[in-house]
Amino acid sequence: MSELSNNPGPTEAVRVEWARRIEAEYRSSAHTQHLTLWLIQLGAPRELIDDGLRIVQDELDHAELSAEVAREAGAEVAPAIVQEDLLLKAPAGPLEERTLFATLEVFCLGETVAVPLFTELRRACSVPVARRALDRILRDEVRHRQFGWDLLDYLLETRPALRETGRRILPLLLTGLTKRYGSSTSALVLPEERAWGLMAPASYREILETTLEREYEPRFRERGLL
Ligand SMILES: [Fe+2]
Ligand SMILES: [Fe+2]
Repeated sequence: MSELSNNPGPTEAVRVEWARRIEAEYRSSAHTQHLTLWLIQLGAPRELIDDGLRIVQDELDHAELSAEVAREAGAEVAPAIVQEDLLLKAPAGPLEERTLFATLEVFCLGETVAVPLFTELRRACSVPVARRALDRILRDEVRHRQFGWDLLDYLLETRPALRETGRRILPLLLTGLTKRYGSSTSALVLPEERAWGLMAPASYREILETTLEREYEPRFRERGLL
């Protein structure tokens, strides 16, 4: 394949999406750092704290890698830093419950669906700078997903009353996720946008549906949360 066919012209959608990803990855770093503080406050095992801190760094790397792609695609607007979005939010309550909420929302749900999403984004991605970013992100997401389930197991084992809390909040979190990822049926994406690591909105919805069935339901059932 020639250099030229490897580098199709970026569209405005490519610039907008990679600029959005810089903000999303940066936010993930902040949220994980905040969650790790909660783990320190709860006296969680050292391995979980270490895993959390490593993820904070991964997510900063992902933000930088995304910034490289956005730059190469010609994005000119600097990413926005919205300070209040960089705090973890969970309903008021004891720290154990807030930690459970964030673990379920950010990691068990968010990072678990991220693995098949990034797998599909990477599959048709051929522009080297974007491919490099997606290679690294996908490799890390597998470990981030594991962190979520390990952390959930730790919380449920050490604080069995949280299982009831989890059963109560999980349906709301699943509905929120479906709204976020699964509302569009648009199959619209250009081949050159696929090459830059984008995909159609409808693909997000399909992947979420498969993840619900193959990942979330068995994993939550096994833990008595569904
Ligand atoms: Fe990330
Ligand atoms: Fe991640």
